[in-house]
Amino acid sequence: MSQLAEPTDRSPAAPAPAAPAPDVLTVEGLDVTVSGGVRAVRRVSFTLGRGEAVGLVGESGSGKSLTCRSALGVLPAGCEVSGGRITLGAPGAELTAFTRKQWDAVRGRRIGAVFQDPASYLNPSLTVGRQLTEQLRVGAALSRAEARTRAVELFTAVGLHRPEEVFHQYPHELSGGMLQRVLIAIAVSCSPELLIADEATTALDVVIQAEILELLQRLRTERGLALLLVTHDLAVVAESCDRVLVMYAGEIVEDGPTAEVLASPAHPYTEALLRVASIGAWGRRELDIIPGRPPETGAELPGCRFADRCAHAVARCTEAPVALRSLEGGRRARCLRPAGSLLDGAPEEAPAPVTEGAAV
Ligand SMILES: Nc1ncnc2c1ncn2[C@@H]1O[C@H](COP(=O)(O)OP(=O)(O)O)[C@@H](O)[C@H]1O
Ligand SMILES: [Mg+2]
Repeated sequence: MSQLAEPTDRSPAAPAPAAPAPDVLTVEGLDVTVSGGVRAVRRVSFTLGRGEAVGLVGESGSGKSLTCRSALGVLPAGCEVSGGRITLGAPGAELTAFTRKQWDAVRGRRIGAVFQDPASYLNPSLTVGRQLTEQLRVGAALSRAEARTRAVELFTAVGLHRPEEVFHQYPHELSGGMLQRVLIAIAVSCSPELLIADEATTALDVVIQAEILELLQRLRTERGLALLLVTHDLAVVAESCDRVLVMYAGEIVEDGPTAEVLASPAHPYTEALLRVASIGAWGRRELDIIPGRPPETGAELPGCRFADRCAHAVARCTEAPVALRSLEGGRRARCLRPAGSLLDGAPEEAPAPVTEGAAV
């Protein structure tokens, strides 16, 4: 991890450090609407480099899952990509323009995914071995015998003890941690470039959670996988991710190298998340204890969507949209504060008077 730059070293002309190349996933100006037109994801842009682990954090309802599902072509009914584009690889295949048939060639093959509730993604009436071999036969064009051998290798690689035995078991015979390992084996079986893990460890107990995170890290290093890790837990990001993307009310509010962002958050929301983490509130509706509430999904506000809950808000924050600005060191923040950094002292203007509906 790189060192936190001293504020005095900052120069507007300093080039950002080279991004890991080539990009595996590029999301540009993604808009997702729900319930027939409500904007739930707003102009989300980010890239994910080969072998890079990026953490996507934010309160429940901030748009993390819709962003992931857009990159997998599996948005729930009534939700759709209404703007922007997502490309895979460079030069990229434009996922957002894909037909169903094109998706079949990519989902599960070039992009793998694991979610919070592994049981619901497995067929209860088929052994897990059969489910993995079917994926291998279709996705990697292996013969039955090859797929069987490969399946046992994969079950071993994801840390399942007695993989031969597990092969013949049904989902209900396995624990949550084992099921998540099975799902990870299926997700990486066709050697994807990208693995999306959406709250994949949230439902597991803390020891199993750590083991699964370690497994994801190992697979990433061994296979050069890019990892998009969705979590509401900053401690998970701190341990496992090169970069962190912070989402708030449908928007990216901060993006940058994990060590730098956690050491000196450039957005007050990130700072609030860190404060919550530091008082040990994780695990009990942690993100809800930041005073106030996020705006309703789809609410159109003239200014910053966090302003009502922000301890540093000034009048200007609520008057006009706040752009996501590029900062030094490959960082971005959607905040008007000078250099975007809370380390940079007082805001330029006096705090705004408390407005109606503001958080206490
Ligand atoms: N199937 C759906 N129908 C209607 N609204 C949805 C649906 N899925 C998500 N939303 C809304 O979109 C917003 C973002 O959801 P989501 O991406 O699941 O958030 P997160 O994963 O960050 O908790 C939420 O306000 C949620 O209510
Ligand atoms: Mg979610």
